[in-house]
Amino acid sequence: MRRYNLRVLFLWFVLLGTLSSCSHREPHFRIGISQCSDDEWRHQMNNEMLREALFYDGVEVEIRTVKDDNIQQEKDIRRFMKEGVDLLIVAPNEAEPITPVVEEAYNQGIPVIVVDRRILSDKYTAYVGADNYEIGKAIGKYVANVLHGKGTVVEIAGLSGSTPAMDRHQGFMNVVADYPDIRLLAKEDGAWLRSQAEEKMDTLLDLFPQIDIVYAQNDRMAAGAYAAAARQHREKEMRFIGTDALPGEGYGVEQVLAGELDATFIYPTGGDRVMQIAMDILNHRDFPRETLLNTSVVDRDNALIMKMQTAHISTLDEKIETLNGKINQYLARYSTQQGILLVSLVALLLVIGLLVAVYLSLRAKNRLNRELSLQKKKLEEQKTQLIHQTELLEQQKSQLEQLSRELEAATHAKLVFFTNISHDFRTPLTLIADPIEQLLADTSVSTQSRQLLELMKKNVHILLRLVNQILDFRKVENGRMELRLEPFDLLDSFRGWNDSFRMALLKKHISFSFETTPDADFRMMADAEKMERIYFNLFSNAVKYTPENGKVIIRLEMAEQNFRLEVFNSGSYISSTDVEAIFERFYQVDGHQAGTGIGLALVRAFVEMHGGNITAHSDEKGTTFTVTFPKQDISLYHPTVVTLPAEEKEVSSTLVDAEISTEGEVAEADCPTVLVIDDNADIRTYVKSLLSKDYRVLDAADGATGIRLAMKYVPDVIVSDVMMPGMDGVECCRRLKSELQTSHIPVILLTACSLDEQRIQGYDGGADSYISKPFNSQLLLSRVRNLIANRRQLKQFFGDNQTIEKETISDLDKDFVSRFKSLVEAKMKDPDLNVEDLGRDMGMSRVQLYRKLKSLTNYSPNELLRQMRLKRAASLLASSEMTVAEIAYEVGFSSPSYFTKCYKEQFGESPTDFLKRRG
Ligand code: FRU
Repeated sequence: MRRYNLRVLFLWFVLLGTLSSCSHREPHFRIGISQCSDDEWRHQMNNEMLREALFYDGVEVEIRTVKDDNIQQEKDIRRFMKEGVDLLIVAPNEAEPITPVVEEAYNQGIPVIVVDRRILSDKYTAYVGADNYEIGKAIGKYVANVLHGKGTVVEIAGLSGSTPAMDRHQGFMNVVADYPDIRLLAKEDGAWLRSQAEEKMDTLLDLFPQIDIVYAQNDRMAAGAYAAAARQHREKEMRFIGTDALPGEGYGVEQVLAGELDATFIYPTGGDRVMQIAMDILNHRDFPRETLLNTSVVDRDNALIMKMQTAHISTLDEKIETLNGKINQYLARYSTQQGILLVSLVALLLVIGLLVAVYLSLRAKNRLNRELSLQKKKLEEQKTQLIHQTELLEQQKSQLEQLSRELEAATHAKLVFFTNISHDFRTPLTLIADPIEQLLADTSVSTQSRQLLELMKKNVHILLRLVNQILDFRKVENGRMELRLEPFDLLDSFRGWNDSFRMALLKKHISFSFETTPDADFRMMADAEKMERIYFNLFSNAVKYTPENGKVIIRLEMAEQNFRLEVFNSGSYISSTDVEAIFERFYQVDGHQAGTGIGLALVRAFVEMHGGNITAHSDEKGTTFTVTFPKQDISLYHPTVVTLPAEEKEVSSTLVDAEISTEGEVAEADCPTVLVIDDNADIRTYVKSLLSKDYRVLDAADGATGIRLAMKYVPDVIVSDVMMPGMDGVECCRRLKSELQTSHIPVILLTACSLDEQRIQGYDGGADSYISKPFNSQLLLSRVRNLIANRRQLKQFFGDNQTIEKETISDLDKDFVSRFKSLVEAKMKDPDLNVEDLGRDMGMSRVQLYRKLKSLTNYSPNELLRQMRLKRAASLLASSEMTVAEIAYEVGFSSPSYFTKCYKEQFGESPTDFLKRRG
């Protein structure tokens, strides 16, 4: 439709274009006129041609005139040729010089009309002019008549090379030859010019005393001859005869009327006729090749009439001119009106065109609208259906979400429940497990009792493992499980752990093979404890689900990018649905012995923490668990520094033999004192039984009592439970640390709760150590021992009482402090030495350095730095001859006065006083 509209518009525009092009007409023909002379006769001829041209549309006429100059005329003609005129009109000056160029134009196909004078060739298209020979004859006859056959004549001829001059003479001579008494005295060349004729006449007058007739070939030359005769007062002696008979002031007709000329002969200009023939030629109409114009005599008898007639004609000409002017005006007006009309027409057509286009567009639009509304209706129906379906889907989705939330909540509740239960279980389990270990260590126990104890021990271990798994899983879920990476050899470790399963395998007659890629390097960065948990869990599952006489195959292989561990056991089948869900927490496979459903979930979590993944596959042959770990370039890794307190390692500790001191056994009087604060009497009793062998043990059932006892006895170590009614362990610790008397006492927090937040709170409260229940009795003992020993070492280490004695310190930390000390000693002279630089040198950030030092020494790095500077200064003051200022600069103070101030704050006297005192 749109295309159709465009087509209609296009046609309109074509039509409009056509109309507008009609209004502008280019000239159809260009006519070039070459005139040989510039005189009144030529002017009349030119005017006639121009006037006549007005009667034809689209004709452009250009006239080029020379002054009797052959060369210039030839140039003019060539120029016309070059410009490509459609037709040439040539009045040749002289026949011979002009003939070639006329022939050339003619040969080029340009129509040429030769006028008035002729050329010496017939290579022209048409000729228009008078018959000069006849004119000459008519004049001859007139002369013979006037002279009655007897007399003398002088002839002043036109330009000798021009044909009228030749023809007129011939015609004249032809007649007078018949009159022997008429003598042509002389013939002179007046070159068609008055001046030249006058000159020649002067000569002739001198030569001939008797001249009856002066025959001048044109009126101009006749006038010149007359003037010459008049000068000699001889004009009355002779008659003057001319040619041309032009009307107008001073020209031929008036010369006759004035009596200067006896007669003149009409030499018609014929310009109108020339132009008519030119247009006939250009329009390919018939035309006469030779047009000879008539002549007639003008003498005293008809001159007046001639004059009147020509005057009349001239008036008519003027009127015609005026009329022409008016016509031009009207034409211009008409043209303007035509233009306006055309523009209006164009506008009208445009409007019509646009209306048609609009109409067609509207029609198309209506049709489209109808189609669209139909489609819209359909779409709306579909939309309604869709909305309905979406609503249904959303309902289902929200139901599913609700279910999922409920499921998640239930799972969470289950986990929380298990976690809580686990916490509750750990304390009694500890209280069972540790005494069992101690009983088993007693060699006097009977074999039967030992077997029972072993059974108890085994089941307590199982329970503890389950409890620990749940607590660990909770940690994983909360994102608080730490990964302690260190170089780890999979092959070495797995091989070592295989031994632990020997007995179990033997019992069920299970064949076992451990296959590996020979000579492969299976080292990676891993958390050894978690790796152990992964391996033990998979291996024990395999053993557990392999029937008697079955087999377990473990493969450790090197894949391209990974290490791959495959644990296969024969005989058990897990359905594909179960396989997919087997790693979900609390998922239990039908037909398998009940478990917590946590073990494999934990395994997967540990595997993923190492960047690996685990999959299971089961078929009628058996079940395979495949674990992959990404291979790493171990040289790029360094063991990850364990940033959590060392006791973290004890979270899932195995129970070892415990030494139990006999309750009530009294420690030596100067042995260290330990204060035990716990609301649980069993725990107090148990801990006391552990410690009483080596320490004096005090105990308190709540925090307030504990603080009171601590203030009173200032124990060497305090062991406190966290969860206590009233003041909890953390608060108790905080108070102890804020009292001057007790702030240096190391505090071990002991609790069933292993959650990190509580540990953080505990440490924030100033606790020195934290031990989770169920705790290892050895661990507790060694922790107590170490705290006391380290406190002493620290004192030694820093060498005086100004330093800190709050914290036990490991070898690693000792090394750290010692490195720090040497670094500061080496650089202390630099007053710009700052924490940032020190941190960088120690391989730590400013914050890390600050925390590390603060936790070890309870001093900030800046405080330590200042103390070390002051100690060095004190030593220099005592041992050297240096001035106070020199010492100040030596130890890195930028101003001696500030040094003096700090020194005095630290040591209670100024350095100068010290020197004075020293003497
Ligand atoms: C005009 C004229 C006339 C004469 C004619 C001959 O230029 O000299 O006077 O009759 O030419 O060609």
